[in-house]
Amino acid sequence: MPTSSRSAVRTAVLPVAGLGTRFLPVTKAVPKEMLPLVDRPCIDYAVAEAVAAGIERVVLVTSPAKASLARYYEPDPDLEAHLRAHGKDELLARVQAIGRGVQVETVIQQQALGLGHAVLTARKVVDDEVFAVLLADDVVDAAEPAIGQLIDAWQPGHAVVALMEVPAEETRRYGVCAGLWREPDLMEVHAMVEKPAPAVAPSNQAIVGRYVLPREIFAILERTDEGSGGEIQLTDALATLAARGQVLGKVFEGRRFDTGNVLGFLEATLHYTRKRPELRAGLDEILDRL
Ligand code: G1P
Repeated sequence: MPTSSRSAVRTAVLPVAGLGTRFLPVTKAVPKEMLPLVDRPCIDYAVAEAVAAGIERVVLVTSPAKASLARYYEPDPDLEAHLRAHGKDELLARVQAIGRGVQVETVIQQQALGLGHAVLTARKVVDDEVFAVLLADDVVDAAEPAIGQLIDAWQPGHAVVALMEVPAEETRRYGVCAGLWREPDLMEVHAMVEKPAPAVAPSNQAIVGRYVLPREIFAILERTDEGSGGEIQLTDALATLAARGQVLGKVFEGRRFDTGNVLGFLEATLHYTRKRPELRAGLDEILDRL
């Protein structure tokens, strides 16, 4: 249930400037965030999650080549007139609902220098003392929006990251956290390592792409050197806060899909298709036939 901390977090930053190399060749012409999960672009699941958690403003950190992302959230009077004229009221309602209740803005990240750099790029438009970050590749189906669960766990002066237990052999795909459990689902994080090999991973509690960040993170990011993969890593900046006891890890409730790879995307597509009553039986029939 929404609590008072919900109203403190009004802005969400979505870093979406990546090249989408894992989805080439389609991403040569279509941003990966615009690939359809059933019939909505993938990015819209993160935007809808943010809105459901009370976020009022979404900042897309994007690249000059990805104008279609912002366009999706702009009204299209010609399309609406066409649907109205043809009596397609249900579709009209769906088109008009896109981005309702949220202001969508864009900042351009000129060079892809890493997630930390992308978040730092948003500094010029984020004045808030605390803000959310959602990585659109991580799609989470949850009764309570995952970012809302983090906001509820947030305490002033702290950052909160979403945590999920992963098998030891997968730590090198994630940021990994270690610390003390304050509650069964809430860790006081003391150490954070980006993409560690299993042998050096401090635990198997992996970061999923949901963050609540204090404004202070910008100043730390400015001083953060290149890390894993030669990129400026958000995890490295957060490690500075963690060393001061200012990071909480929240084990969220919900099912997470990694749509950043083809099979994960397919799994999410099947999951969300089966959730649509009008599509479920048809999909099951197709799967039987295959
Ligand atoms: C990013 C973060 C990583 C986190 C992951 C979650 O990595 O750097 O700490 O665990 O998202 O999806 P990426 O998957 O963008 O390489």
